Amino acid sequence: MNLQQRDSAHIWHPLTQHKLHPFAMPIVKAKGAVLYDENGKEYLDAVSSWYTAMYGHCNDFIIERAHKQMQQLDQIIFSGFTHEPAVELSEKLMAILPENQAKLMFNDNGSTATEIGIKMALQYHDNKGNQRKTLLAFENGFHGDTLGAMSVSGLSVYNGPFEEFFIDVKRIPLPDGENETEILRKIDDFHAGSPLAGFIYEPLVQGAAGMKMYKAEHLEAILQKCQKLEIITVADEVMTGFGKTGSFFASDHIKTKPDVICLSKALTAGLVPMGITTCTQTVFDAFYDDDIGKGLFHAHTYSGNPIACATAIAGIELLQSEEIQQNIKKIETWHQEFAEKIKDHPKVRSTRQQGVIFALELNIAMERYGDLRYKIFDFCMKEGVFLRPLGETIYILAPFVTTKIQMEKIYDTIKKVLDRF
Ligand SMILES: Cc1ncc(COP(=O)(O)O)c(C=O)c1O
Repeated sequence: MNLQQRDSAHIWHPLTQHKLHPFAMPIVKAKGAVLYDENGKEYLDAVSSWYTAMYGHCNDFIIERAHKQMQQLDQIIFSGFTHEPAVELSEKLMAILPENQAKLMFNDNGSTATEIGIKMALQYHDNKGNQRKTLLAFENGFHGDTLGAMSVSGLSVYNGPFEEFFIDVKRIPLPDGENETEILRKIDDFHAGSPLAGFIYEPLVQGAAGMKMYKAEHLEAILQKCQKLEIITVADEVMTGFGKTGSFFASDHIKTKPDVICLSKALTAGLVPMGITTCTQTVFDAFYDDDIGKGLFHAHTYSGNPIACATAIAGIELLQSEEIQQNIKKIETWHQEFAEKIKDHPKVRSTRQQGVIFALELNIAMERYGDLRYKIFDFCMKEGVFLRPLGETIYILAPFVTTKIQMEKIYDTIKKVLDRF
């Protein structure tokens, strides 16, 4: 049996209807922006393996740091214990996060990062004796696949069996510069009907929705309104964090800073999983009490894992390096040039860009998990480029170390898709 057959014997893959798509694609090696299959065929990872491996796969600097840490301290319960990599990471993160962030809680992935953000918002009010059981979120947002995270995700298409268990969530559309008054009125109405505990949002770019983008200035009034009403603002930076939007965090582009920030994905540079949820001193203080029950009793076994922390520290050092900062600027310019070249193609409805995130809206009707989507995926893989269309959107979120020649190949493959489909 080959790897594919052995895989299908036991493995249940994420986001997969196995009856329709029984086989997964074996990858045996990865380096920089390149993935290799069993036959040695190369594929450019144009989506950084779900936006994680931003400094390139199997990055020597990161591996060396993780390896060093493995020989020193592998794992220790983080309830009641601490260690140098966790403390150093907390200091390094606080130095680059928006100034109002003061405390952080470790967890395991993007969904747990947002789940904790949601719990912080709900329990903040509970601890204060406020009756606030409802959350506010954008239509079409995505915040993960655990039950709380699913509740706030307007996007999830196949939520049917779980909806009756969801937290009560009210939804507002993305701000577009024209609907501000209507959105603010909606928030007031919702709040009057069922007081809102928190507002969770993906700042500037809604990843899973198809890299939908909106302007920083259009979010300002919403955040101000929430903070005025003491609705805890939770920025889900799981996708947008760590340089992708052209600054360390998408929240850097926005004047009003969130009360809570959720991090994961590129946090650990694609090497190991980890999530972190940060918050302001004010949020933390609402849990600081003689009453033990007012604490945030949330833990994951691998919270603050030393190897993950060492990896994250190495990632932040790379992010701050001159080389990566220069690469980010270069990629921004290449994308702008590509957009200019491609924008009048009859199959292109529109293009958009925020930092190194580039998205192209196809003028072709395509279902999110429909046949055409899989055909385009297969075609790109044959061309040696891993692209993952989301609905009618094709996007590029390639590692910061992608070279000009590699990026040209990604662009050429997209052009071929446009000419062919
Ligand atoms: C904005 C956002 N939040 C949360 C998540 C969930 O992260 P994870 O898949 O690590 O649970 C994702 C995943 O794509 C995401 O894009």
